[in-house]
Parts: sequence; C-alpha cells; structure tokens
Amino acid sequence: MNKYTPVAEDKFSFGLWTVGWQGVDVFGGAVRPALDPVEALTRLAELGAAAVSFHDDDLVPDDTTRQHTLDRFTKGLADTGLVVEMATTNLFSHAVFKDGGFTANDRDVRRYALAKVLRNVDLAAELGARTYVLWGGREGAESGAAKDVAAALDRYKEAMDLLCGYVREQGYDIRFALEPKPNEPRGDILLPTIGHALAFIGELDEPSRVGLNPEIGHEEMAGLNFAHGITQALWHGKLFHLDLNGQHGPRFDQDLRFGAGNLRGAFWTVDAMLGSGVAPAYDGYVHFDYKPPRTEDLDGVWATAEACMRNYLILREKVRAFRADPEVAEAVAAARVAELAVPTLGAGETLADLRAESFDPDTLAVRGLAFERLDQLAMEHLLGVRA
Ligand code: GCO
Ligand code: MN
Ligand code: MN
Repeated sequence: MNKYTPVAEDKFSFGLWTVGWQGVDVFGGAVRPALDPVEALTRLAELGAAAVSFHDDDLVPDDTTRQHTLDRFTKGLADTGLVVEMATTNLFSHAVFKDGGFTANDRDVRRYALAKVLRNVDLAAELGARTYVLWGGREGAESGAAKDVAAALDRYKEAMDLLCGYVREQGYDIRFALEPKPNEPRGDILLPTIGHALAFIGELDEPSRVGLNPEIGHEEMAGLNFAHGITQALWHGKLFHLDLNGQHGPRFDQDLRFGAGNLRGAFWTVDAMLGSGVAPAYDGYVHFDYKPPRTEDLDGVWATAEACMRNYLILREKVRAFRADPEVAEAVAAARVAELAVPTLGAGETLADLRAESFDPDTLAVRGLAFERLDQLAMEHLLGVRA
C-alpha cells in the first residue's frame, strides 16, 4: 500500500469493455482471449476500483446464457464489493446498426434500437446503476443528402423523450448521459461535441433527466480543450459522468490509458474535476474508458488499469500541491483571476452610468496579465520540480 493505492472513496470505475477489449481493430483480429466478466470484477477489485459499467452485449450478449451469467455476475459483485454504477447499450456492433440506432433512416431499425435500450435500462435499474450512457457512434453519415440531419435530431429527441418518460413511469433512479464524439465509426457523428449535446438537451421534454458523459479523447479529436468543456458542463449542472482516457491530438480515437497523450490536458482535467474555480467539483464516479493497446497480454491489461488509477492519484496530488502553493496564490492574484468573479456592472449601477465613465483603452492595454508565470508554476508542479 502506498499513497497512490486507490481506496473505495476514490470512486474509480471501469467499463467491462475496456479491460475486456480483445484488440479487434479495422486492420486485425483479436490478440487476447475473451475475459470472463467475473474475472474482471475480481481483478479490478484487487487493484482498488470501486465500480464497473457495461454495455448489454459485454455482459449478456445471448439470451440462452443470460440468466446464468447474471447469477454469476451478481454473486461476483457481492463477493468483491464492487457496484454497477453505469450501464449503456451497444447500438453500434451489429450490422443492423450500420446506419445508426435512434436515427437510422429505416424505421424498423429505430424501433428495434429503442426496444434494445429499454431492455437494458431495466437491467441497469435491477443492478442499481444510476447513470445510463448513450453514445451514438453510428448516429451520423459519411455523405450529404443521405441523412436529413434535422429529421435525425427530431428522432433523437423522440427517443430521449420516450426514454425519460419510461424511467419516470417506472420510478427508476436513473439519469441519462449523452456521450459526444465527432467521428469514428461514422464519418461524421451527430452531437459531435459537448457544446452540441448541451444545446440538444435544452430541446428535450425533460432536460433535467439528461446530462453528459464527455470523453477526453473525443473532445481532443475535435481539437477542443477538455477541461474547459467539462467546466462548462459543470456550470450547466450537466456533468453527470465522464470517460477519462488519453489522446494525442486530432487523429483516430486512441483510447490510451489516462495520463498518456496530452499530459498537461490531464492535469487541467483533474484540476477542473476538483472544482478549483467557481464551478462546483465533479462528485460522480471517476470512470475510465480506454483500450489497453494490442501489444499487451493480460498482465499488460491489468498494468494499464492500475496505471489509469495511479495517474489520476498522482495528478490529483500535483493539482492539490499546485493549488496550495503560496507562490501560486500570489501568481493567481497577480493574474487577477478572482477579479473575473466580480460582476462587470456594479450593484445599483446602470448601463447609462457605465457609458458615462471615461475609459482610456490605451492605458488599460499596457497592463500585463502575468499568466505565463502562473502557467510555469503549474508546469513545474507537473514536472515534479516543486514539492
Ligand atoms: C469510444 C467510446 C465508446 C463509448 C462506450 C459507451 O471510444 O468511441 O468511448 O467506448 O464510450 O461504448 O457506449
Ligand atoms: Mn473513445
Ligand atoms: Mn467513452
């Protein structure tokens, strides 16, 4: 046990499909054997995780073995003390979803997709999951006229409204979380970024039941700043869940372990999750959605799972040290960060008062912001040269 050994209060969670990924990609087949979900529970519990998540097809791909698997899995949860905190639906692997689930042009496919989700929402409720994720990887298009985007958004809204109504009527303690992604597997995916998804939620019948499950790699594939994205989601009260992983800039979805790829981005992500600014802290599960590279055997898989949690704990320690450093406090003050929390118009002031004031933009323009000194302090904490 050392200071980077996870404990239950850290609320680390893994998708069964992460450690269970066999390495099938567009260029090659499986490199690892199938992983028994109960084995995944045992190993993740040993490493210090608190929870798991799953797609219907990760756990119960087939009706003939469904009950037997669920009995074993439920016993595995009881034996390890892990909980199921999130569940989701595979609306992307089967060929039937080649043009999407909720937004497929083919109405029968949409009806099947909805039924598949409803069935797994029931299972999620039974297993105690309180977040239900929807990642619409196949909701999109490769070409122009084939997809009426506005009609697709109507159907997406219809599906979400029906799901919200179902959860309300059943009395389930479940909230939905949409997971944006710009592309892959579709050429262009609907709800491509945090911003698009937030705007979409505002059009739903019951917006309070729906929030976001943003993933680091997906925002970074679009060249966006993940810490800014989740802070805006927190500001809207919509960061219901998240997917931590690693990505090297705009390219294919790398799903590296957390901390790999954009390390500075990971530092600011943890800073945002801890609520270092005006936005509230994130208080949900710290969920990892990554793919152990194909180079790894099963020992390597467990090494990556451990590393995700360890990197989070190391970064959390560094963020806390940065925020507690008196020199950082001085640099934050010099950068006038707190001044941004002061309303632009004073109490009782009118716009006429403001317009009556005389400003000298040339004088104001001379003031430096001293942001670089502050950022260098963060860099030095991250690089480990300030204790
Ligand atoms: C991806 C996605 C998926 C989803 C998951 C939930 O890497 O493109 O992250 O892994 O998160 O399938 O449905
Ligand atoms: Mn991904
Ligand atoms: Mn994800």
